[in-house]
Amino acid sequence: MDESVTRAAEAIRAGRLVAMPTETVYGLAADATNVEAVLTIFSAKGRPTFDPLIVHVADVAQAWTVAAPSARAKKLATRFWPGPLTLVLPRRDIVPDAVTSGLDTVAVRCPDHPMALGLLRACGKPLAAPSANKFGRISPTTAAHVREQFGDELLVLDGGPCRVGIESTVLVCDPTPTILRPGGTTKEAIEAALGESVAIVDAQTYARKLAPEAPGMLAKHYAPRKPLRLKQPGELWPHDSTCGYLSFNGFGVPKSARWVEILSPASDLREAAKNLFSSMRRLDAGEAMTLIAELVPDRDLGLGINDRLRRAAGILG
Ligand code: TXA
Ligand code: MG
Repeated sequence: MDESVTRAAEAIRAGRLVAMPTETVYGLAADATNVEAVLTIFSAKGRPTFDPLIVHVADVAQAWTVAAPSARAKKLATRFWPGPLTLVLPRRDIVPDAVTSGLDTVAVRCPDHPMALGLLRACGKPLAAPSANKFGRISPTTAAHVREQFGDELLVLDGGPCRVGIESTVLVCDPTPTILRPGGTTKEAIEAALGESVAIVDAQTYARKLAPEAPGMLAKHYAPRKPLRLKQPGELWPHDSTCGYLSFNGFGVPKSARWVEILSPASDLREAAKNLFSSMRRLDAGEAMTLIAELVPDRDLGLGINDRLRRAAGILG
């Protein structure tokens, strides 16, 4: 076992926070059964305590110690774990209110990253972990991103750049399978595994009616500091020397543009997802005064990418 993982496991058992790599984004982890430790996550992030956390587990067996599975949940866990799918299920008593914000459900997933799994096994605890960024800001996909926001005080496990690059898909299993947040596991793949169709809660409706239940659905998340607007369908890229361009494949971006990020020259949605947050950060850190981004095709990982882009622009749906 990597020595840094052993040290991180000791820190977790002592009630401290650890930043851990996952396949989606880096997480800010604490022992999910330790209320004090969980509350530290909220204060470190500046996150309101009504926004519930995801509980990470080492395997399917540990998942059912924190959540009560249904037939659907068992099928999905077998098919997709470890992987970027979070299941919202009835919670068990071992999970404190601090994790679920008092809801009677808990969000649970098994991450597909050797260091996260190593940490989970070494500490023997389920780990509550939101993305390791300050509340509302861009999620971290490298250890350096985490250090930029939290400094050297925090123990950061460096597992390299995240393979998926956007957060897990959050799915309510029952009574109707419903995606609350599109992410690293596609709707198409979930539907194929279940053999039934899956709903996506319209973000606008959800935010208005149920925001306190999943404020990750609120606008102005994953946001750069600079104003970012979305290019409208059919609109040409503007010619603006003060603007930073976030393009899917580079098509049509003016030659005169000075700050350009291309998510995938080959128009590959996986590559685009992997690059999304790093590209946003580079544009935000650079000299452009405003940012403009285009949406990507609305299928597969494109649903998650477009969701993040809309939130970065401060608009829903
Ligand atoms: O990929 C990911 O999911 C990353 C890595 C670290 O695992 N984590 C992550 O956590 O994105 P966070 O806290 O940034 O987003 C968790 C989302 C929020 O939208 C939250 O509202 C929702 O999950 N959530 C958590 N518990 C819930 C529950 N019981 N019911 C409905 N939504 C819930
Ligand atoms: Mg987050």
